[in-house]
Amino acid sequence: MCGIVGAVADREVGPILIAGLQALEYRGYDSAGLAVLQGSALERRRTQGKVRELEQLLAAEPAPARIGIAHTRWATHGVPSTRNAHPHVSSDLVSVVHNGIIENHEALRRELQDAGYAFSSETDTEVIAHLVDALQREGLDLVQAVVRATQRLHGAYAIAVLSAREPDRVVGARRGSPLVVGVGLGEHFLGSDVQALLRVTNRFIYLDEGDVVEIRRDGYRIFDADGRPAARDVRETDLTADAVERGEYRHYMLKEIHEQPEAVARTLEGRINGTRILPNVFGVAAETLLGRVRQVHIVACGTSYHAGLVARYWIEALAGLPCSVEVASEYRYRDVVVPADTLFVAVSQSGETADTLAALRAGKAGARYLAALAVCNVPESSLVRESDLVLMTRAGPEIGVASTKAFTTQLAALGLLSLELARLNGIDTARYERLVGELSALPRLVAEALQLEPQIAILAERFVDKQHALFLGRGASYPIAVEAALKLKEISYIHAEAYPAGELKHGPLALVDEHMPVLAVAPNNQLLEKLKSNLEEVRARGGELFVIADQAVDVKLDADRGAVLRLNVGDSLVAPAVFNIPLQLLAYHVAVLKGTDVDQPRNLAKSVTVE
Ligand code: F6R
Repeated sequence: MCGIVGAVADREVGPILIAGLQALEYRGYDSAGLAVLQGSALERRRTQGKVRELEQLLAAEPAPARIGIAHTRWATHGVPSTRNAHPHVSSDLVSVVHNGIIENHEALRRELQDAGYAFSSETDTEVIAHLVDALQREGLDLVQAVVRATQRLHGAYAIAVLSAREPDRVVGARRGSPLVVGVGLGEHFLGSDVQALLRVTNRFIYLDEGDVVEIRRDGYRIFDADGRPAARDVRETDLTADAVERGEYRHYMLKEIHEQPEAVARTLEGRINGTRILPNVFGVAAETLLGRVRQVHIVACGTSYHAGLVARYWIEALAGLPCSVEVASEYRYRDVVVPADTLFVAVSQSGETADTLAALRAGKAGARYLAALAVCNVPESSLVRESDLVLMTRAGPEIGVASTKAFTTQLAALGLLSLELARLNGIDTARYERLVGELSALPRLVAEALQLEPQIAILAERFVDKQHALFLGRGASYPIAVEAALKLKEISYIHAEAYPAGELKHGPLALVDEHMPVLAVAPNNQLLEKLKSNLEEVRARGGELFVIADQAVDVKLDADRGAVLRLNVGDSLVAPAVFNIPLQLLAYHVAVLKGTDVDQPRNLAKSVTVE
């Protein structure tokens, strides 16, 4: 998704802006640009394509300056092109970069055209530049103009604005899209994500909804949505620029897959004491609240939704509580029945996904829920700040667009939640202690599953030329099949579908022939015999069958018609999380063989902050 960087310093800002955009590249984008003020002359450089092309353009046509704004654009209104790339400019005086979507841009565009403004792009953003210019012409200073302009915008925005009329400051504003202020010594910055600024500071201010901020070299001022001065805390982050480096790995995705044993261990650390989950894991108020929970509604998008689907099996089986799981974009526009004492759980890596945030807000409206719990990876995110209870997954920064370690740590966190709800609802103590032990073993089991990589790399060769693939699972392994299909689609562009294996003969079996590889997840549990009959149905139709099976599972396949890969997990609670590991590796190796852009797959963005 789009990225913003802004800087006011006593040194040249071009390299700071470019490095900031590079740190945001992982989010996905199709064009890049920057604008700087040289004295009071506005200079702009824009390119369709990668930040390194913008860097080359800047080297060919230098624009040294001490104040500037920059942007990576992920097209929403208007095709990806240089003309539509940000920054947008009005009257050669005002320049704007914007993340989000302005829903009333057409009405504003007509109004501004009537006032004599000519538009040079198809974007919704350009209205903001002209609005600010028009308000400055009425005599408002830049802060007042931005306050008044943003009051007219419907939709979501994070913006940074430069005006040659006040060449010593950048003004930013946010509503619905994140924006942070980076506090330096004699220099200040804006970024849509702290990662953009980790090379220049570790001190940040997280702006509230509707805030407007002015940054200058020697200070900053913050105003609320009505233009009243506001105070916001400065916080130090432990994140370092090195934590988001790729190191020796060829791709971030591979690095993140291999970081999973550590990331899961961190997520469980200090939360389990021998055979018990510690009482303070969900916050001080949680024990009484969680004890009252009679139902659970889980809401999320994409991979995070798949983690929720696994948790439903756990919560219903272990705590005996009804649990529904829904994608946020559906939940937010539906009249949801909320029975008494329901817990709302939002699952999100970024904590900034527009639909998940809107679902949280819809859920909180009317106080129908007992409480809202965020399971999230980013401590300062909007989701965390707006939820009553928080359970952080400690995956560390996830840069690859395809989510891997975030998913596995979400499963670990949701495992903690499921077991806590189970304890509060009277699960047999011996069974509880055994399951806590199984959850604690997850880092080790994930490390063992990673050992399959050489075999997976060979298996990947059998998928690389396929147009389609079918994934099968049963029980809590069914969502793992769904997640595996999503991973393969996302990064290798092979069409993949997942079905509960029992559904095969109700339709999808018609697709099975020698061109359709079928991959099944076969843990050693009470559903195994059922699954094996489903696999026979595939074999009988000449389908090529690949099975990721537990060590104890007896499946034999002819080498030319398929393959079996082995894991040693038994009937563990965490088997779904472990079986997911070879499937992540499969998607990765198929994508590498196909030569796709693994970390930034086409058309996708890391954090979907627009609807
Ligand atoms: C897929 C993927 C997406 C995200 C989804 C939700 O690999 O990464 O499906 O899971 O966009 O994002 P978060 O978890 O940030 O809310």
